Amino acid sequence: MKFFIETYGCQMNVADSELVANILNKAGYISTSNIDEADIIIFNTCTVRQNAEDRVLGRISNENKRKVKKTHLKIGIIGCVAQRLEEELLKDNKAIDFVAGVDQYKELPNIINSLNHNQKRSKTEVNNSEVYEHLLPKREGHFNAFVTITRGCDNFCTYCIVPYTRGRERSRSFEEIVTEVRIAGENGFKDVTLLGQNVNSYQFKNTNFPELLRKVNKVESIKRLRFVTSHPKDLSDELIEVMATSDKICEHLHLPMQSADNEILKRMNRGYSAEHYFKIVQKLRKAMPEIAITSDIIAGFPGETEEQFQRTYNMMKNIEFDYAFTFKYSPRKGTKAADFQDQIAEKIRLERLSRLIDLQTKITHKKYQNQIGKIKELYVEKVSKKSQSELAGKSRDFKITVFEGDKSLIGSFVKVKIVDAVGWTLKGELM
Ligand code: SAH
Ligand code: SF4
Ligand code: F3S
Repeated sequence: MKFFIETYGCQMNVADSELVANILNKAGYISTSNIDEADIIIFNTCTVRQNAEDRVLGRISNENKRKVKKTHLKIGIIGCVAQRLEEELLKDNKAIDFVAGVDQYKELPNIINSLNHNQKRSKTEVNNSEVYEHLLPKREGHFNAFVTITRGCDNFCTYCIVPYTRGRERSRSFEEIVTEVRIAGENGFKDVTLLGQNVNSYQFKNTNFPELLRKVNKVESIKRLRFVTSHPKDLSDELIEVMATSDKICEHLHLPMQSADNEILKRMNRGYSAEHYFKIVQKLRKAMPEIAITSDIIAGFPGETEEQFQRTYNMMKNIEFDYAFTFKYSPRKGTKAADFQDQIAEKIRLERLSRLIDLQTKITHKKYQNQIGKIKELYVEKVSKKSQSELAGKSRDFKITVFEGDKSLIGSFVKVKIVDAVGWTLKGELM
């Protein structure tokens, strides 16, 4: 029996899909990257915004037609939509045969085995202590390794569904993490990203996040170390110091700001002020002048006035992020903000979003132009999408760069001189 997994959402889901692949492999199922060959199709889903959920549910309904030709085909849904809607999914979406929640992946072989005839199954109990100990992910088709360090989230930002889908925050043992990183490096994954919804609050016995980074930085088999996502309320001076003094930690930080208006930040339950956020940015840039800072911003949170929006806009202009993911606020049922009475009209949310996008496009363009003439180290990841003679790699500060080079360089590190910037891509020449 062959299985195919399609992954939506954040890196957490990418890592979980690799975990699921290993769990199914161990149970005798074979993975395939060709959906037409699959006997089991699994969608690992995201529900952070309504459109993310709608897109995947639409896609699943579409796949149902495959069952006409292949009557034994089973379609399953896992991840955050599975956790949010549970067995309701089986009633509402005829295509779905099984549902497994984010803490039930070890049960997947049992669930799939027990599906016969037209039976459907759902298993979605939350298990707030599940960390999938002693299970390594099955990494394929890329050179970056995502290593989960915490699962769940306790922050309850008022707009966010994640604490409800992923349960309480728990940290994996540092021994397990260090071992997983070492093995990933030995298998050729030289650029490692540690994952958690709020990595800064990692705590396992006496090891906090900066201490974990010190330990991982010593792993000889890897060359680069990154982490997402950082929360401004928990980003300590100790962490900045570890970042600045650890050779493998890359000059890149994703630090979601969400808003730069203190009243809105309070209503979001973010636990920091705009001034605090700005101060962290200054400290980071002082400690690491080359650091690239990226962010997430929400436009049109309930109650946001034009003046409050302007504060966010002006802060983005002032800080100049290398890149910012900008989102239109999307009410998520069950979260506090969804019940706020002062929801902003769709038209205004969209209009504010487009102003943020225009601003960030200009800033990113300028930042990328400023890279011309610099010499950068790239981790070569693949043949470029646009041209067969070009390779694509990433710099330490997370900028995709293409250059003319031989395919044998894939998986290695090279130095290039940046000669041009087109859109979000740099063009380099091999040194
Ligand atoms: N734990 C991470 C990732 C959360 S989801 C963090 O704290 O940053 C990624 C981003 O989606 C968030 O940073 C936020 O900007 C956005 N987001 C989350 N819920 C949203 C919602 N209901 N509407 C719009 N954007 C949302
Ligand atoms: Fe959601 Fe906030 Fe947790 Fe991030 S920190 S996952 S935005 S609740
Ligand atoms: Fe989406 Fe779940 Fe990640 S809702 S952003 S896949 S934690």
